[in-house]
Amino acid sequence: MEFKAAVFTAAVLAVLLCSPASAQKSPPAPAPVSVSIPPSLAPAPAPAPRYVDLAALLDVAGPFHTFLGYLQKTKVIETFQAQANKTDEGITIFVPKDSAFAALKKSTFSNLTSDQLKTLLLYHAFPKYYPLAQFRNLSSLNPVNTFAGSPYTLNLTDDMGSISVESMWSKPKISSSVYATKPIAVYSINKVLLPMQLFSKDPPPGTARRTRRAPGMSVPRIAWGCW
Ligand SMILES: *[C@@H]1O[C@H](CO)[C@@H](O)[C@H](O)[C@H]1NC(C)=O
Ligand SMILES: *[C@@H]1O[C@H](CO)[C@@H](O)[C@H](O)[C@H]1NC(C)=O
Ligand SMILES: *[C@@H]1O[C@H](CO)[C@@H](O)[C@H](O)[C@H]1NC(C)=O
Ligand SMILES: *[C@@H]1O[C@H](CO)[C@@H](O)[C@H](O)[C@H]1NC(C)=O
Repeated sequence: MEFKAAVFTAAVLAVLLCSPASAQKSPPAPAPVSVSIPPSLAPAPAPAPRYVDLAALLDVAGPFHTFLGYLQKTKVIETFQAQANKTDEGITIFVPKDSAFAALKKSTFSNLTSDQLKTLLLYHAFPKYYPLAQFRNLSSLNPVNTFAGSPYTLNLTDDMGSISVESMWSKPKISSSVYATKPIAVYSINKVLLPMQLFSKDPPPGTARRTRRAPGMSVPRIAWGCW
């Protein structure tokens, strides 16, 4: 009896899956889907998200060569890729353009230890996928933890749709959405994020236009909100 029922179920499934009506409903597939679903697996699982190679993505988008170079040198690219592979969580990466790095002195980075450089790179990501539509909600959670761990937080601001990401010494705007399909979001930013844990006392050279009060300092050297 049970065997017959299973055979019947399989037959019905086969008819349903192979009938032109159901085939027409799905979007045109690049290749014919070979269907061999045992009855125990019905209903068919949703198709797995397409695998995206982050290094290849950053290489063709951008120009993001400086950031990609640092990711590869420190192997943080593998950490990011492993997180991107966790399709239920995903990743959100804020990628500074090459011009953002060019605006900083070279010594800004050469002075960092390799662990600090890794932390700086991890600071540019959230270990979760966020479409832009969720940033308004996310900003209600400020300060938001980054991939670098709990002291390394960012604040998000949404000024009438213009979203900025705020670190201690820089507040880059999201200039474009490079890629945003679950589980991966990549947003281009026009400045490097500079957390106070790595650049505590002074703004690194090249960031003088935005000077903020570091903990313990009583007077900001430049007033807020001048631009
Ligand atoms: C991510 O997944 C791809 C495809 O399954 C695999 O080739 C790659 O090694 C994975 N990378 C990491 C860092 O887990
Ligand atoms: C890097 O270190 C040198 C020597 O300690 C110092 O003069 C320079 O200001 C530092 N640069 C940055 C960006 O912190
Ligand atoms: C934002 O939060 C509100 C209420 O907290 C909720 O109704 C809404 O769906 C959320 N929007 C997104 C995009 O998550
Ligand atoms: C984020 O906002 C909180 C609360 O307004 C503030 O204390 C913190 O310094 C801000 N952090 C950054 C990185 O701007």
